[in-house]
Amino acid sequence: MAEVKSGHIVNVMKEERLFPPPKAFSERARIRSMEDYQKLWDEAAADPGKFWGDMAKELHWFKPFDKALEWNMPFAKWFVGGLTNVSYNCLDAHLNTPRANKAAIIWEGEPGDTVVLTYRMLHREVCKFANCLKSLGVNKGDRVSIYMPMVPELAIAMLACTRIGAIHSIVFGGFSAEAIADRNQDAQAKVQITANGGWRRGKELPLKGIVDEALEKSPSIQKCIVLKRTRTECSMKEGRDVWWHDLMAKASPDCPAEPMDAEAPLFILYTSGSTGKPKGVRHTTAGYNLFAKKTFEWVFDNREDDVFWCTADIGWITGHSYIVYGPLSAGATSLIFEGAPNWPDEGRFWEIIEKYRVNVFYTAPTAIRAFIKWGDEWVDKHDISSLRLLGTVGEGINPEAWMWYHKKIGAERCPIVDTWWQTETGGIMMTPLPGATPTKPGSCCKPLPGIVPEVVGEDGKPVPTGSGGWLTITQPWPGMLRGIWGDDERYKAQYWSDVPGKYLCGDNARCDEDGYYWIMGRIDDVLNVSGHRLSTIEIESALVSHDAVAEAAAVGRPDDMTGEAVCAFVTLTSGTEPTDALKKELKAHVGKEIGKFAAPADIRFTSALPKTRSGKIMRRLLRDIAAGRESAGDTSTLEDFSVLARLRSDDE
Ligand code: WT7
Repeated sequence: MAEVKSGHIVNVMKEERLFPPPKAFSERARIRSMEDYQKLWDEAAADPGKFWGDMAKELHWFKPFDKALEWNMPFAKWFVGGLTNVSYNCLDAHLNTPRANKAAIIWEGEPGDTVVLTYRMLHREVCKFANCLKSLGVNKGDRVSIYMPMVPELAIAMLACTRIGAIHSIVFGGFSAEAIADRNQDAQAKVQITANGGWRRGKELPLKGIVDEALEKSPSIQKCIVLKRTRTECSMKEGRDVWWHDLMAKASPDCPAEPMDAEAPLFILYTSGSTGKPKGVRHTTAGYNLFAKKTFEWVFDNREDDVFWCTADIGWITGHSYIVYGPLSAGATSLIFEGAPNWPDEGRFWEIIEKYRVNVFYTAPTAIRAFIKWGDEWVDKHDISSLRLLGTVGEGINPEAWMWYHKKIGAERCPIVDTWWQTETGGIMMTPLPGATPTKPGSCCKPLPGIVPEVVGEDGKPVPTGSGGWLTITQPWPGMLRGIWGDDERYKAQYWSDVPGKYLCGDNARCDEDGYYWIMGRIDDVLNVSGHRLSTIEIESALVSHDAVAEAAAVGRPDDMTGEAVCAFVTLTSGTEPTDALKKELKAHVGKEIGKFAAPADIRFTSALPKTRSGKIMRRLLRDIAAGRESAGDTSTLEDFSVLARLRSDDE
């Protein structure tokens, strides 16, 4: 049963709706048909070394590589022996081309201030700041910790690090002092870069105050560079803290890019795993750069005059790859916005699209759900007809939200790319290609060329078509993480052990009869709250670090807005009164330990937690209770049945 509606075939049966790319889009696209896609995919699968080796000629090489791929499972080396530089590929490479005076970054601050940096201007700022870093003693291989708002100087700082071969570790601006200190300590960072403050919904966040607290527990940090972004007063510690503008005033704009080994570490980005402390995902120079560039070009079909807007924070991998490194190495114009989507009103994003004539818009399903809630009238106030392509990332998108995005924002004209990937993968892995792939709402569709997925059972063997299982990737790709900072064993154990020889990503998925992939959520105890990855164990550790808490279990429950919300079950130390004030205090405590975005939405006090005989908390049961479901699952190993009954009655 299909009806034809403005050029799209709409199957009325759910999940069978298929949206072929609009003809006008395909005709001008880089990859125009499924035949073209399949040809590329087959070539890459047959000989990944040759495929990526040919692509890598698009980067600048100070010295050509000898070998495209060396695969000593699970350790990959790409472009062995080659010397290149990411900052060079993002900046210098465009200077002797017509792109030199093109906008590299269009920035809008929350209060409405604007900065445009052409490639030439950005190059100059990056060179100057690279010299500032050098003047503070930052050398090749040193770690630089960055905790900044979404300002152009954040991109400048990143590129300056890569220019001199320093390794950046960006900590998202929503994290707490504790979280910064942990990461600084793990990475043994030498220099901290921050700002006095940042804007958030008209208020000034005192970032430097948070950093001051973090630096008390970051003995490896020798210097702290402070950008003046707001009017916020801040303390400057003699001998340690220096103003960005004071350093820049004296800096020379002459700083040649350092030829870097293809496999030299480029950055560390911490992400939550299923156990213990956050993992420092390690990405390296040439492979990451090439993968970010090629995936950006394929998926966002970049055209020379496009304005591309990825709304993620640069502090997450999405921002690293698709605000900074992908767009700039492709010579694109990347828009950066400092503020929130609902400040000063709920039309801010549409106002920005109208103001800068944004062509490609890449955002998160959680944001789309908020737009739907705020109402169409905010969209209707603005002319967003410049849009030609839409994207989503961070979690699966429910078909209803997809349809709204398609109709209201895309005017049934813009293809939607639902991009599946991870911090660890460096770039997009599975997605529709906008000029080629007929899309199914809720599916991330097909793997990109060079990506070979396989859904397997717990025995590691492929499951039949249509069945759910663990999603694995069977071949190395250039953007893959090279390890966990300082912990090769954890890298092996986490990703390469349960299914030997394949990369285990941690998601469940199924592949349908058309070869389309459907992500079915995490295998492990990792939550996805508003597209942010959170480990239940981190939240539990934060709770237990409070004096009143004896034991805690955090689980996710479905939430209309944030996708999942954190629900924590807490047993108190004896004599502690279970009050609402304490609930509030515990939420704030998690906010302080990890970051506000990790604070539980619900806290439930309980006299005991349901456990198996071996003492494992039965999270499945808690998840059911948190979601208000009857638990149908097996409770035969439950240690104390009365615990469950009590938890339920607490509920009533
Ligand atoms: C996890 C990775 C790299 C993007 C930002 C998040 C989930 C991501 C999708 C999607 C369904 C998705 C997965 C993945 N996820 N994109 N399009 N459909 N799920 O990066 O913090 O490393 O999280 O986000 O569960 O494993 P991350």
